[in-house]
Amino acid sequence: MIEDFDVTSDWHVADPYPFLARLRAESPVFWSEHLQAYVLTRYADVRAAYGDPRRFSSKGSLTISRSLTAETREKLGEHGSFLSSFVANVDPPDHTRLRRSVSKAFTPRAVAAMEETFRQLNEEPLDRVAPQGGADFVAEIGHEPSIKLTARFIGVPESDEAFVQAHVKDWFQLFLSPQPPERQLELADSFLTYLDYVDRLVASRAKDPQDDFTSLMTSLIGDELSHREVVELISTILLGGNDTVPNQLGNTVLRLLREDAWPVPPSLAGNAAEECMRIDGASLGSFRYAATDISLHGVTIPAGALVLLSTDSAAHDETVFPEPERFWIDRPNAADHMVFGYGIHFCVGAALGRLQLRTALDVLGRRLPGLRLVPGQPIVYRKSIVGRGLPSLLVAW
Ligand code: HEM
Repeated sequence: MIEDFDVTSDWHVADPYPFLARLRAESPVFWSEHLQAYVLTRYADVRAAYGDPRRFSSKGSLTISRSLTAETREKLGEHGSFLSSFVANVDPPDHTRLRRSVSKAFTPRAVAAMEETFRQLNEEPLDRVAPQGGADFVAEIGHEPSIKLTARFIGVPESDEAFVQAHVKDWFQLFLSPQPPERQLELADSFLTYLDYVDRLVASRAKDPQDDFTSLMTSLIGDELSHREVVELISTILLGGNDTVPNQLGNTVLRLLREDAWPVPPSLAGNAAEECMRIDGASLGSFRYAATDISLHGVTIPAGALVLLSTDSAAHDETVFPEPERFWIDRPNAADHMVFGYGIHFCVGAALGRLQLRTALDVLGRRLPGLRLVPGQPIVYRKSIVGRGLPSLLVAW
């Protein structure tokens, strides 16, 4: 019998749902030895915790770098606690100030203005692969448009995109998934090179502002933001854009093909995307620290303990989503999932993420209406605490 969360095992990343259902029923505040964290699994508890930032603090919650060796820490120096001033990693009042600044770049008008660019970015890989009759969806189709869109939004020149992408991947590995000591040092080197790059980008926009996110945030330095806050914001949004949306898209395409729901009729695309996020969310949840002793369902979470708010479990909570393991393309409350979080830290990029998913489904459905899975391939999820995604997905048309 499965006893614990274990993101290093295949069952956990592929199908944790029977296990999560048992936790919701029997152990809604679960101590995980493996994560060294309490796990909240019921929808109502996860939502209440997100809504209570005084007791469930975000301060330092994203820095999952507990596994770094002393040598790696020394190499990283002051950057060892990198992300300490990233917006998702701080509490009010710092959060309120940072969030106000970041939100300036995500107005509905700014987001809507990206649709056309994103549409074109989706056509490009399809122009390349369409004559092949088949491809690895992840490597050849799904990731590139989001990566390019994020780079343009930030203001990374096209010639630097590959460099940034390689370094962002290393950064992600270093801080968010445990690595052997030698590999940590290599990744730390790569991370420092990347930081230096972002630093130079900020300096160049300070001198010569352009129409991009980096210039907008740089213009707030001194007034509302510090230099370090801007560098952390930019580096992290590059990561967010490079990873979350493409993972969600891969999960979504796999689900739609398995459910024989391809291509999605345009009138259903919005709800279909929500139902795919609910049932196959790319984000597993958010970490918090208990700011005080918290009693819940007969368990006392001691002050200082790490807590995982499992949005993945909440999205499969049968008290909110009847028959949660059934894919229901027009499920009326599909959008009540918390894959984008909830409360003051609710994903600032949610509207942009949703726009990308809808647009990609639209272009893909039109260009590749006969899309199908290559039969017999093993479907393997990557092993990660923070995100659920596919390293590869072979498709044909
Ligand atoms: C499907 C795609 C995405 C998913 C699943 C996702 C998920 C999340 C989640 C769960 C949070 C809450 C973190 C917490 O409460 O600790 C969050 C926050 C955030 N996300 Fe996203 N995200 C996505 C796309 C994006 C995009 C495209 C951007 C930017 C271009 C972005 C930028 C951010 C930022 C800056 C925050 C921090 C907000 C704050 O703390 O106030 N995300 N995201």
